[in-house]
This record gives sequence, C-alpha cells and structure tokens, in this order.
Amino acid sequence: MPVIALVGNKGGAGKTTLSINLAAGLAKQTSVVVVDADPQGSAIQWNVFTGTNMSMPVLKASDESGELGNQLAKLSQEYDYVVVDCPPSVHASQTTRVLEICDLALIPVQPSPVDLWATVHTEKAVQHARQSNEGLRALLVINQLEPRTTLSRLVRDALSEIGLPVANTALRRRAIFRNSALEGKNVFEMGRRGLQAAGEIDELIHEVIKI
Ligand SMILES: Nc1ncnc2c1ncn2[C@@H]1O[C@H](COP(=O)(O)OP(=O)(O)OP(=O)(O)O)[C@@H](O)[C@H]1O
Ligand SMILES: [Mg+2]
Repeated sequence: MPVIALVGNKGGAGKTTLSINLAAGLAKQTSVVVVDADPQGSAIQWNVFTGTNMSMPVLKASDESGELGNQLAKLSQEYDYVVVDCPPSVHASQTTRVLEICDLALIPVQPSPVDLWATVHTEKAVQHARQSNEGLRALLVINQLEPRTTLSRLVRDALSEIGLPVANTALRRRAIFRNSALEGKNVFEMGRRGLQAAGEIDELIHEVIKI
C-alpha cells in the first residue's frame, strides 16, 4: 500500500524524526514498516539503540538503488504503509529512486533561510520525478516551529513561493522529540511528557495521510 518518503536537500531538517514518529503513529492503527534509505543509518540506529521493540520494524534499504524499487514494492504488498527515510540530498541515488516510486513525499522544513533555499532543489527533484511518477503527491511540513520568532511567523509566506503545498499542521520545536530519540523511543512511548508532540504527529497523519 502507500509508500511515504521523508525527503529533502538539507541535513537536520527532521526526516528521521518524522519517519520514526509518523510510522509509530500509524502503527497504532495499522501495519507499518520503516525503510532506512540513508547510508548514515540513523533510523536503524534509533531502533537498535536500546534494543527496545518499537511498534514497527525498521529495515535497511537495499544498497543497490535498482534493488530498492523491488524491496519497496515487496514491502508495500506486506504492510499497509511503508515509510522511507531518505538521505539529506535529493541528488543521492536513493532519493531519486524513492521519488520515482513513492506515493507521497513529505519534506520537513525548518523556519530558517538556509532550509528554505534548500527546498527549491527538492521541489525541482519532485517535479522531475513526476515525469515518470505522475501521481506523486508532495507536501512541505514545517518542523521545529517556534511560534514567537519572526522567522517562524514568516515561514509560511516564504514557502508559498515554492511550488508545493504546505501542510496546515506544523511541528513545534519540542525537547521531547530529541529526548525520546536519546532513549531510542518515539514520542508515543514517552507518557505524559510526549502528549503534545504525539498530538502533533497524530494531527499530521490525520491531515496528510488520512486513515
Ligand atoms: N520538532 C522538533 N523539535 C525538537 N527537535 C527536533 C525536532 N525535529 C527534529 N529535531 C532534532 O533535530 C535533529 C535533526 O533531526 P533529524 O535527525 O530527524 O533530521 P534529518 O533530516 O533526518 O537529518 P539528516 O539529514 O542528517 O538525516 C535531531 O537531533 C532531532 O532530535
Ligand atoms: Mg536523517
């Protein structure tokens, strides 16, 4: 079933954080697998860190980008959702391959000029992928929002210059997103401390993935 990719051309935007937490949110209701297509292996690391059993498996992507397509096609038969964490470059062979196959590309963007500039390249990569993957949906997701800062206030306007829609749901900068990773957990496993972050993830799922 649907393949959802977390992509972008900027390191540290939140691709891995969203991959793990979106998958964990989906896993409450349905079957999900995470595929780590980033050679940095952060999502794999997150899962093995404490040896906890996350609510979904996290698999390493095939090294061969040609094989990656087969791997994702097979997993999409076995699971209701496949969430793919991509490397921080839209020029990486893994990202190119995943964009050719996925149903939905989610692009986390921080409210900073450098992140906004990087998004221009991501938009070009999405448009290019649409030549062969016509149905590809793509959405920008504002991450690490700090409502009181000027940049955060301006980010939505600035993103309207990019030819991709922006999700209404934004994720705030919250320490729990970092602290949960420190413990090898997702925000749903953090009890009361994780409630607000988990609520944002659920809202994003409801808005853009709609199950
Ligand atoms: N909403 C948030 N609030 C607070 N911290 C966050 C939030 N989102 C991500 N982070 C933190 O920001 C850092 C970068 O996030 P993450 O590793 O998910 O980005 P990435 O896009 O996967 O990076 P890379 O491009 O290196 O793979 C991490 O320390 C993560 O815990
Ligand atoms: Mg990452």
